[in-house]
Amino acid sequence: MRKESGGVKMIKLGVNIDHIATLRQARRENVPSVVEAALVCEKAGAYGITVHLREDRRHIQDHDVYNLRKILKTKLNLEMAVANEILCVALDVKPDSVCIVPEKREELTTEGGLDVKNNKKNISNIVSKLQKAGIVVSIFIDADIEQVSACFEIGADAVELHTGKFSLLFKENGFSSIKCKSEFNKITETSKEVFKRKLILNAGHGLDYENVGQICKIQGMNEFNIGFSIISKAIFSGLQKAVFDMKKLIEQNSNL
Ligand code: PXP
Repeated sequence: MRKESGGVKMIKLGVNIDHIATLRQARRENVPSVVEAALVCEKAGAYGITVHLREDRRHIQDHDVYNLRKILKTKLNLEMAVANEILCVALDVKPDSVCIVPEKREELTTEGGLDVKNNKKNISNIVSKLQKAGIVVSIFIDADIEQVSACFEIGADAVELHTGKFSLLFKENGFSSIKCKSEFNKITETSKEVFKRKLILNAGHGLDYENVGQICKIQGMNEFNIGFSIISKAIFSGLQKAVFDMKKLIEQNSNL
């Protein structure tokens, strides 16, 4: 088991429930309920709930964030772009943590990490406003050591490394392929830098029941944020089992 200052440290699972809202918004009804989904995830052992309040409100709506804040017994992690309107919601709701992400209107999902290196002033402004409100701030970045340094310089608490490219290469070519291994090594090397800078190390995007075991092997991982694969499995197995199975997989692989 991973040991930290004498104790056992398991990688935490944050469940991203955006796609419960995607389904609801397809009919603009009030089912399936985001709040009910969050409660099931908590019951199944999720460490926290993640939602992305996008500027285009394609899935999660403002009232979802407020309702979750009221009912969650675990942690609320809010993903948001560098946007004043969303910052106002975040400062009002006060989630436990915020993950700052890039956002493009036309993308299907968050495509790449945030370029902190070239936007330090803007981002550091948001980071300090959130931190002053008592919110832990993470930044979603690609596996790039220079981006880690930039996150450190602007005083972020955590980084979430983008595992989307790794996940895609894993699916297309398998873990043993040169391309996938090389992306994995990049994430591993970047993680060492995160650890060295004493930032909290999280990861997410594209993680599923096949590939999560490999990412578990990277030393120092604190938390994974996983959405699409869990919600997809839930259609057939039920949400409680989908979350439970992912948590079990992470726990088993954290033992390696
Ligand atoms: N982490 C971040 C920062 C994201 O933007 C997303 C997608 O909303 C996720 C994790 C979850 O990704 P996936 O749905 O592919 O598991």
